[in-house]
Amino acid sequence: MSLSVVILAAGKGTRMKSATPKVLHEISGKPMLFHVLDAAEKISDDITVVLHHQFERVREAVASSYKKVHFHRQDAEGFPGTGGALRGIEFRHDRVLILNGDMPLVTTASLLRLSDARADLAMSVIDLEDPSGYGRVLIDGGRVQEIVEEKDCTSEQRHIHSVNAGVYCVRRELLERYIPALSNDNAQGEYYLTDIVKMAVEDGYKVVPVFVEEAEFKGVNSRIDLAHAEELMQRRIRRAWMAEGVTMHLPETIYIDCRAEFLGECEIESGVQIHGPCRIENAHIKAHSVIEEAVIRDGSVGPMARIRPGSNLSRSHIGNFVEVKKSMLKGVKAGHLSYLGDAEIGEGTNIGAGTITCNYDGKAKYKTLIGRNVFVGSDTQLVAPVTIEDETIIAAGSTVTRDVPSGALAISRAPLKIVEGFYRKFFNKGRT
Ligand code: UD1
Ligand code: CA
Repeated sequence: MSLSVVILAAGKGTRMKSATPKVLHEISGKPMLFHVLDAAEKISDDITVVLHHQFERVREAVASSYKKVHFHRQDAEGFPGTGGALRGIEFRHDRVLILNGDMPLVTTASLLRLSDARADLAMSVIDLEDPSGYGRVLIDGGRVQEIVEEKDCTSEQRHIHSVNAGVYCVRRELLERYIPALSNDNAQGEYYLTDIVKMAVEDGYKVVPVFVEEAEFKGVNSRIDLAHAEELMQRRIRRAWMAEGVTMHLPETIYIDCRAEFLGECEIESGVQIHGPCRIENAHIKAHSVIEEAVIRDGSVGPMARIRPGSNLSRSHIGNFVEVKKSMLKGVKAGHLSYLGDAEIGEGTNIGAGTITCNYDGKAKYKTLIGRNVFVGSDTQLVAPVTIEDETIIAAGSTVTRDVPSGALAISRAPLKIVEGFYRKFFNKGRT
């Protein structure tokens, strides 16, 4: 861990066209910047995030999840640019890895390749068919000579396809020497971090390129990039879980949050979405179900079911068009068309089609407690707060407004009236 990390995240992210700071836009359930921090935390105990635009908002978001990260506020008016971003930061270790906050796909393995390179400065380089927008890297004899920003390129330099991906591993000594010496005499009037390369080369330091994958190092600048990065990350997440024993049908149609977790043998059908830190164990999630921050063990859900936050289902079978919210179900069957919210339901209980827990009276939410081996008939409303004790029967179509004691039948029904001959009378179809 003898490596400091600095993550540049002061930029405005104008192309996102968003009130949310760019690095807080989420990919697979986590802000972009957090993905970068996760990769950084695996290799460093000294991490600094450089901020400026919406400083407080980003700082608070990061600090709430990453207790040990340091923050540096860039003087972006006085010293704009990636070189300005590093002014005044103190690093604990002799080597510094410089990352961008908008590179959510970067992996620890690639970062280690940069930090393992034997050089005073190792920089990430991508060979791109279309290099436009990037700084061009002048390489000679396996050594980097210079980085020229596109806006400062000669027409010949524009044709260079090796571009700067923007990640560097550099000896601290070089930063201490060159950052204060940068000038902003260039097309953008910015302090370019990239200028330290030429300075280092002139002083005889060894600067090497490390060729990296575009897919990992491409920065996210627009919502199009964001969607693309999420697609790539989804592919990674799905492959990782399949390798762990999760069966997926038409995996390209399945969305899995990076915080979700699978245990045992699971089967996920097409179109399923899993949001938040779900825990799914030995379960079968059928097509087009949506699972949010829930625990599902030893059972099946769906197709087209929605399991919402705070739900904990074990040994249960949830069928189509059933919504469960903040409920604990153990050994329960709810096969069709129900809403179970703020409920606790016990072993062996069957919930008939169209059962609704009326958990909200317009002001507050209340609990529905249903015991073991209860038979809830179809089209039942359970008006909470209400307790249905063990081994009871609720007759179909009942509206239950009082507690039901163990062993009882609850039945509420308007008497059925049958009026003979009414049809023909009503539609004026007299007997012919
Ligand atoms: C920079 C490189 C360019 C490289 C490209 C790769 C320089 C001068 N140029 O381009 O060679 O091809 O990255 O993406 O470094 N940032 C700050 N403070 C600032 C400006 C930027 O923290 O004042 C941060 C941004 O938030 C972003 C990162 O630095 O995370 C890169 O900034 P960006 O403007 O995207 O890069 P360029 O300067 O265009
Ligand atoms: Ca820029």
